[in-house]
Amino acid sequence: MSMEINCVNCPLDSTKFPMITRGSVSQATAEGTNRVMSFHVIEQATARLNRSELAVPGSQPQLFEKAASSAADVVFLDLEDAVAPDDKAQARKNIVEALNDLDWGTKTMSIRINGLDTHYMYRDVVDIVEQAGARLDLIMIPKVGTAADVYAIDMLVTQIEDAKGFTKRIGFEHIIETALGMQNVTEIAAASKRNESLHFGVADYAASTRARTTIIGGVNRDYAVLTDPEGDDGERSVHWGDMWHYALARMVVAARANGLRPVDGPFGDFSDADGYRAAAKRAAVLGCEGKWAIHPSQIALANEVMSPSEEEVTRARRILVAMEEAAKAGKGAVSLDGRLIDYASIRQAEVLVEKAEQIAGG
Ligand code: GLV
Ligand code: MG
Repeated sequence: MSMEINCVNCPLDSTKFPMITRGSVSQATAEGTNRVMSFHVIEQATARLNRSELAVPGSQPQLFEKAASSAADVVFLDLEDAVAPDDKAQARKNIVEALNDLDWGTKTMSIRINGLDTHYMYRDVVDIVEQAGARLDLIMIPKVGTAADVYAIDMLVTQIEDAKGFTKRIGFEHIIETALGMQNVTEIAAASKRNESLHFGVADYAASTRARTTIIGGVNRDYAVLTDPEGDDGERSVHWGDMWHYALARMVVAARANGLRPVDGPFGDFSDADGYRAAAKRAAVLGCEGKWAIHPSQIALANEVMSPSEEEVTRARRILVAMEEAAKAGKGAVSLDGRLIDYASIRQAEVLVEKAEQIAGG
C-alpha cells in the first residue's frame, strides 16, 4: 500500500528518466528528462556488462580457450605487466591469432597495451588493431596520466580504423593507477568519445603514491582509528579503515560525471574468497559496476557481488509501480513499506531494473 507524502521538490511531469546515450543529447534535453539532474546532459558510454573483467596474459595462449568459455563479462588479453619484455612480440602474435580464430562468443574483448612511456605501445596498437581490430571492442590504457595521453592513442587508433575501413569504433578503458592519473582523472574521463570505463589499478597506485601495502588490493591494519578508552576498564578498540576509499570514490565520481563505468581493479590473494568478496562489495557500494578477476576463481565472485539480488530487483519494480500510481494521482512522494520514496527513488530503481534486464539479456 502506498500513501501520499508532500514533496516540495518533485517535478510533476518527470515520471520517466530514460538513459541518455551518446548521440541522443537534444532529444533528451527537449524532453527535460534525464538522470543528470542538470542542464548539462551526460552522454552514457556504450552499455555493456562489466561485472567481471578477466585478465589473461597474452604470452600464455594455453589459457585463452578457458577464458573464452568462462563466465567473465569482459576479457582483457594483456601485453603489459603480465608479459616479460622478451615475450612482448610473441604475445602480440598470440593475441592477433586468438582474436581472429577463437570463438569468444558475445564476450567484450579488450587488450591491455603497454604504457605510453614504453616503445612497445605503438606496435601493440598498430599490430593488433590493424590485424584483429574487427573483433576488438576495447583497448585498455595503463598508467594514463593526462588527457593528452588519451588524445595520442585516439589519434593512432583513428588513423588505423580509417585506413582499414573499420566502421565500428574501438572504445577505451583507462587504468587510473598513478598519482598523476588520479590528479587528472576528471580531464582523462572527458578526453575522448571512445572512453567507456575507468579502472582503479591499486597495485601501481600504491607504488606511485608510496602507500604502505603488501597484498594487492588488500588493507593495512595501520590504517585504523583507536577509540578513546571507555567504561571502567578503559577498553579501547581498533577500527580498520579502507585505505583505498578516497581514490576509489574520486574515480567513481569522475567516471559517472562523464557517463563511464567505474571498475575496481585487482585483488591479489586469489585463495582468499572472503577478502575478494569484501573488497568487491565495498567497491559496489561506492558505485563501481565491476571488478577485475586475476584468476578464474574470482569471476563468479565478481558476477555475484556486482549483480543486483532478486530481492533488490523486486523492490525496485515495486517502487516503480508505486510511483506510477502516485504520479497518476498527482502525488510527488509516497511511502512504501513505511519508507519515503520520491522521484529520486525512481532514478535509483530504474538503474537497478535496467542492470537486471541487461544481465538477463546476457
Ligand atoms: C593494475 O594494473 C594495477 O596496477 O593494480
Ligand atoms: Mg598496473
